[in-house]
Amino acid sequence: MAGLSGKIAVVTGSARGIGKAIAMRLAREGAALAVSDVNGEGLPALCAELEAAGAPKAIGHAADLSREEGAAGLLEAVLAAHGRCDILVNNAGGGVIRPFLEHTAETLRQTIDRNLWTTLWCTRAFLPGMLERSYGRVINVGADSVHTGTYSHAGYNAAKGGVHALVTGLAFEFARHGVTFNVVSPGGVLTEDLQAMMSDDPEVLAKYRMSVHPRDVAKREIPSQRFTEMGEVAAYVAFLASDDAAAVNGQIHSINGAQWMM
Ligand SMILES: NC(=O)c1ccc[n+]([C@@H]2O[C@H](COP(=O)([O-])OP(=O)(O)OC[C@H]3O[C@@H](n4cnc5c(N)ncnc54)[C@H](O)[C@@H]3O)[C@@H](O)[C@H]2O)c1
Repeated sequence: MAGLSGKIAVVTGSARGIGKAIAMRLAREGAALAVSDVNGEGLPALCAELEAAGAPKAIGHAADLSREEGAAGLLEAVLAAHGRCDILVNNAGGGVIRPFLEHTAETLRQTIDRNLWTTLWCTRAFLPGMLERSYGRVINVGADSVHTGTYSHAGYNAAKGGVHALVTGLAFEFARHGVTFNVVSPGGVLTEDLQAMMSDDPEVLAKYRMSVHPRDVAKREIPSQRFTEMGEVAAYVAFLASDDAAAVNGQIHSINGAQWMM
């Protein structure tokens, strides 16, 4: 299936993890890609992978997207290479996860910068072009810990709560212009980082300050008894990015194995 052929997609924070999985899925659906990350090292190799997977063209752009000029530079690179953007996936983020009172001013700022400012600046950069063409898909990657609370997540949840809240107002404001705004809100996802914590070596668990093995956390806290696969998040993003999802707007979509239900 190549449900996104002819479309141009931008995925932020896509050098690794969930962002990379999303970019790969959109490439397999036939979209042309721009991948961007503050860590640009792996982007040229990723672009080759994306083109091999089905993207007609893929470009990489290294930038700190938590800064207005970083997002503006990404827009410029996308317009130069692709002429427009139809799909923006605001995936850049990641938590500085620690008990609230152990945060410093710097780690709190980093948490808001990575998750909320990247989303705000990229949306402001790419939205005007979508409005001009009366077509767009904006998909933010939020987090289900906003609903479940979860130990050591208060600072992160404050940032992701903003990422969630942004789409309701934007959908209200711009739905009549053919642009949709949605959040995919994963619970725990089996990323490379979580995979590294899955070791049975007690030293590894100690290194990550985990008193319970992640496998047991999944069994105890997630009704499906497993973490979500990155490809499962990417598949949902591909649906929200498609023409079929035109009426789905302003929603928070949990992907969590029934860990939290509305
Ligand atoms: N891993 C999980 O279980 C999980 C659960 C819920 C939500 N999420 C969210 O999913 C997204 C991807 O998570 P992941 O686990 O793959 O994280 P990750 O840390 O592996 O990847 C995040 C990427 O974003 C990039 N990034 C961070 N700040 C940036 C900035 N200022 N400018 C540009 N790029 C920046 C990083 O360099 C990194 O490559 C994040 O938004 C995360 O908060 C993850």
